Amino acid sequence: MATTTDAPATAARHAAGFLQGTKQLLIDGEWVDAASGKTFETIDPGTGKVLAHVAEADAEDVDRAVAAARRAFTGPWSKMSPSERGRAIHRLGDLVMEHAEELAELDSLDNGKPKAVAQAADVALAADLFWYMAGWATKLKGGTVNPSVPYLPGAEFHAYTLREPLGVVGQIIPWNFPLLMAAWKIGPALTTGNTIVLKPAEQTPLSALRLGELALEAGIPAGVLNVVPGFGETAGAAISAHDGIDKVAFTGSTEVGKMIARAATGNLKRVSLELGGKSPNIIFDDADVDAAIAGAAQGIFFNQGEVCSAGSRLYVAQEHFDQVVEGVSAAANGIKVGYGLDADTEMGPLVSQEQFDRVTGYMAQGREQGATPTAGGNAIQRDGYYVEPTVITGADASHAIVREEVFGPVIAALPFSDVDDLARQANDSHYGLAAGVWTRDVSKAHQLAKRIQAGTVHINTYHVFAAELPFGGYKQSGWGREMGEEVLNNYQETKSVIVAL
Ligand code: NAI
Ligand code: MG
Repeated sequence: MATTTDAPATAARHAAGFLQGTKQLLIDGEWVDAASGKTFETIDPGTGKVLAHVAEADAEDVDRAVAAARRAFTGPWSKMSPSERGRAIHRLGDLVMEHAEELAELDSLDNGKPKAVAQAADVALAADLFWYMAGWATKLKGGTVNPSVPYLPGAEFHAYTLREPLGVVGQIIPWNFPLLMAAWKIGPALTTGNTIVLKPAEQTPLSALRLGELALEAGIPAGVLNVVPGFGETAGAAISAHDGIDKVAFTGSTEVGKMIARAATGNLKRVSLELGGKSPNIIFDDADVDAAIAGAAQGIFFNQGEVCSAGSRLYVAQEHFDQVVEGVSAAANGIKVGYGLDADTEMGPLVSQEQFDRVTGYMAQGREQGATPTAGGNAIQRDGYYVEPTVITGADASHAIVREEVFGPVIAALPFSDVDDLARQANDSHYGLAAGVWTRDVSKAHQLAKRIQAGTVHINTYHVFAAELPFGGYKQSGWGREMGEEVLNNYQETKSVIVAL
């Protein structure tokens, strides 16, 4: 049953074909209904109306997907040479680019983000991630070692290490960058020779299904990438507890990350987690203030603020505080909030009613605790889940708005005067995902980069993501890193082989 929105007529120009009919699960290269026959609705957050109906996977479907992934792991995928594997992943990158417009439209409709942003950021980064990861397929290698064994004097050995895929990996992803989060997860798992059961977020299942189809077209064999949309408590929980899954990779809330780590103890599957953040963006007295204002605004308002590494705590040198607050507030007031497919939209709606309630709840709580918005601070009265880009002053380190992840376009600005106190405040969080530092003093910048407990520190810039750069969290922002060479460790075992000479 196809149900479409009354969104603008041009809405699903490219995506229209894909949106037809109930979307099924992708298991073993086939489109199948859920074993239960159940479906769920995915909503267009720009209108609040139903966008599509999607088959709803639960434990039985996860079992089927795991069995298919296991067959593909021992079968066709392990028989493809690294070069063939790499070329198929590279072709997937090409296909993502060829379908850029359609994929951007699907993510814009499903998530709400501006289509132009989806195309320039999400789609381009996803393609680039596949191209980058494709190259690793032929470059994975162990090393040779000359062991000296104290209790075997005089014995000679030749030893080497092998790097092997883990097997079947479960991947559970969020809704803020639907296609890109799928790419971040799938790319490294494929290049290292694993097979996959991927569960997209229930809010945004569409682009991952389309990506599964493109993977088949790229020559990635049936069963290597299975896509099972469904809810966290059912399909997600089944993946994280499954004895037939060798590793689970998760991106989402810290709360659910902890549940996944606990569920994984059954078979001690490997776990990698990319979780929340409350990242400090720091503007010193010697910064290029105009650049810093623009960077602070972009650091929080990009993607509706629904970014785990959003710079949501803004620390400003006392002498520039008023100027920076005024500048970031003007930037907030100037943002064109609207429907994601409208060409002039700069910020879309939040992804869901739940997220809307959460973000407006933090706005209200901030006001009750005595903080003041200098821009925004309210919902926007129209259908869909729109809120105003918001700048808040007058909060202190004890307030929820300074401590908790809002995951919306809300920044709290706080003045500072002393660098040691600033460093202490910046690290006063159980998160440690990212940070920004704005200064013209090179020594100060690098000294602070060392002191800040975060997986990424930006200097005189913010929100730089690249396939070559590891990304992930200190403290409760996660375990392990995405991207770069480093992510390959998440998907490989090391085997030592020892030969007596
Ligand atoms: P969530 O962590 O509940 O959802 C993320 C993914 O986990 C989804 O695919 C969901 O189906 C799955 N999931 C949920 N419960 C699960 C369970 N028990 N077992 C296995 N999988 C499960 O995040 P939600 O509820 O969408 O958003 C809540 C908050 O989480 C946001 O306001 C934000 O603060 C944070 N968040 C952080 C993200 C990040 O990129 N680090 C992404 C999304 C949300
Ligand atoms: Mg949740």
